[in-house]
Amino acid sequence: MTNCGISRWDDPAAINKALKNLTDQPIWEVSDDYYTNTILKYYDEKCKASRAVYEESKDYIPGGVQHNLAFNKPFPMCMAKADGAYLYDKDGNRYIDFLQAGGPTILGSNYPPIREKVIELLNECGPVTGLLHESELMIAREIHRHMPNVEMFRMLGSGTEAVMASLRIARIATGKKHIIKIGGAYHGWSDQMVYGLKIPGSRGLLESHGIPKQAYRLTDEVRPNDLGMLERMLKRNKLTGGTAAVIVEPVGPESGTRPVAHDYNKGVRALCDQYGALLIFDEVVTGFRVALGGAQGYFGIVPDLTIFGKIVAGGYPSAGGVGGKREYAELMAAGLATGKHRAYVGGTLAANPLSCLAGYTAIREIERTNACEAAGRAGDRLCDGLKGLIDRYGLPFVAYNQGSIVHLECTGAMSFDFSSMNIAKSAIGLLKNKAMMYERKDSMERMGAAYMANGIVTLAGSRLYTSLADTPEIIDEALGRFEEVFRHVKKTDKGLLK
Ligand SMILES: Cc1ncc(COP(=O)(O)O)c(C=O)c1O
Repeated sequence: MTNCGISRWDDPAAINKALKNLTDQPIWEVSDDYYTNTILKYYDEKCKASRAVYEESKDYIPGGVQHNLAFNKPFPMCMAKADGAYLYDKDGNRYIDFLQAGGPTILGSNYPPIREKVIELLNECGPVTGLLHESELMIAREIHRHMPNVEMFRMLGSGTEAVMASLRIARIATGKKHIIKIGGAYHGWSDQMVYGLKIPGSRGLLESHGIPKQAYRLTDEVRPNDLGMLERMLKRNKLTGGTAAVIVEPVGPESGTRPVAHDYNKGVRALCDQYGALLIFDEVVTGFRVALGGAQGYFGIVPDLTIFGKIVAGGYPSAGGVGGKREYAELMAAGLATGKHRAYVGGTLAANPLSCLAGYTAIREIERTNACEAAGRAGDRLCDGLKGLIDRYGLPFVAYNQGSIVHLECTGAMSFDFSSMNIAKSAIGLLKNKAMMYERKDSMERMGAAYMANGIVTLAGSRLYTSLADTPEIIDEALGRFEEVFRHVKKTDKGLLK
């Protein structure tokens, strides 16, 4: 396969064993002395402009930032410039950017060929007219070229919206009711999908405050990597309205934080066929990242519907879309005249020329530059380097990657699983688990602060996206900075169940 960013697939059992070893131990983190006298000192002395913006933002913006990923300890950095592999904060400090805005900028930040096309378009017709623009056709045709089973594509405003649309299509197409998701997966923040967020088995417990139970009554959760449990759920649902769709993140829940076996998706496809459910691939992260043909190209699986986001708008706003087989995708344009029910979707700025042209240009550039492969090579180099450092310093940390998606688990905050816990019977156990997980999350953020103070931006201190801009020299520079942090890590007595 050309332009594929995944050169190897680690055994999930080995990764899970290493993660279990990590969570069986107390937390290892940067020492109090280093944190107070070096890290916090950096923020105090070198980040005064960021702090000033944040202090005022707290009065006007809930939490002081507009994005969950921007909330970094001890306070969020205010970025002023983005260029290739680097970000620069308002005080002029330079960082190697492994957050990549949460994934969209696989070509590097503020990539000139996209910017130039966008400026041309803005000069010509502005960002939006509300009517058809040729760029809408260009991106739909381009996606079909790389993912042939995406016969039709509808651009939307975000991955969250695209997931909502796909569930509606699946219910109309199958006439069935239930949706099965994989525990811990992220499919955006719609009422139905916050169920089972982050922690498998957490069902409606952790993040679903403010959502009526009825909204997720027909959402079911199964344990990652467990085809037996999926089949039992499909069987059980037959008695209560059937399963309209199984939705997966193809490299595993939470962007592969919970890795799956290489043939897992094949098993899911077979079960969907057996039980008459649609298979939805959520490729918001993986589309045009793990390969130009997405995870579906890499695994050789044909999903019924595919969800897009992030790279689909080339790092520009309004990044979302749903596509798939004609008979399903067409339902978004059904209605009385067609004799079929319509899956109603829309949005004032859906399919604006700006996002479509930026996305189209990005996909063309990814193809021209072989960006998935280059970013994947950078991810392998980063991951191998991190593993080397972890060994050298005798740390229990776990590093693994799916090409340009690199995971660095220092506290295991994301590795818990409530699936086998009888939550109804063990409220106290749940509370204790929550307290312990928050302690680990807190520590993960402290590690994130240490990376940031050493010039590395991560996604919440535990995930790193690499891009075309990450040359071997930049990766090696980053590894030197990670080493500086790891040198100061000590075992604590925190993070175990009390
Ligand atoms: C796998 C996956 N699906 C859906 C979404 C939601 O996309 P958006 O943030 O554009 O709503 C995300 C966002 O990170 C994601 O990672």
